[in-house]
Amino acid sequence: MTKTTHTVNFTLNGEKKTFGTRPDEKLLTLLRREGYRGTKYGCGQGTCGACTVLVDGRATYACLLYAMQAEGRTVRTIESVGTFDKPGEFQKELVAAGAVQCGYCIPGMVMSATALMETEEVFEDEIVKEYMDGNLCRCTGYEKIWVALRKTLDRQASAPAKRAGKKSSSKGSKK
Ligand code: FES
Ligand code: FES
Repeated sequence: MTKTTHTVNFTLNGEKKTFGTRPDEKLLTLLRREGYRGTKYGCGQGTCGACTVLVDGRATYACLLYAMQAEGRTVRTIESVGTFDKPGEFQKELVAAGAVQCGYCIPGMVMSATALMETEEVFEDEIVKEYMDGNLCRCTGYEKIWVALRKTLDRQASAPAKRAGKKSSSKGSKK
């Protein structure tokens, strides 16, 4: 059990929360300790993307951010996007495409795709790759993940009402 010495306040999946923490604790450790296990520990060094969450709407490696740096910010984990019983659109397409093998990379992939879909208005391949290039998969060869993502994006692009109010950005989010 982690001995906490400080508190941190942030909005997590739409709810204001206060957590005990320590100055040296990473956001990933705190989230998993508090039960948000959908966010995965992979490399722990900012290279694999398994720990990707959204911080103020930007895809962020939770293994690199200190928990206390989340103070006052808005954090979203995979639990806010879809669950096993109620998957999101991209998650459904991933399953349909047979893109989920071990599945370890999938929550991070979904969070980067969520940042993309909630930020951009057009989904040109170069923009999509910029958002997704920080997420590694050791199983699938990426092809099926790409097919699933392209289907999801094409459907979203043909639903203009859903895009209303989205802020435009030509730059992918950086981790
Ligand atoms: S665990 Fe690999 S980037 Fe965070
Ligand atoms: S499905 Fe196994 S790492 Fe991506």
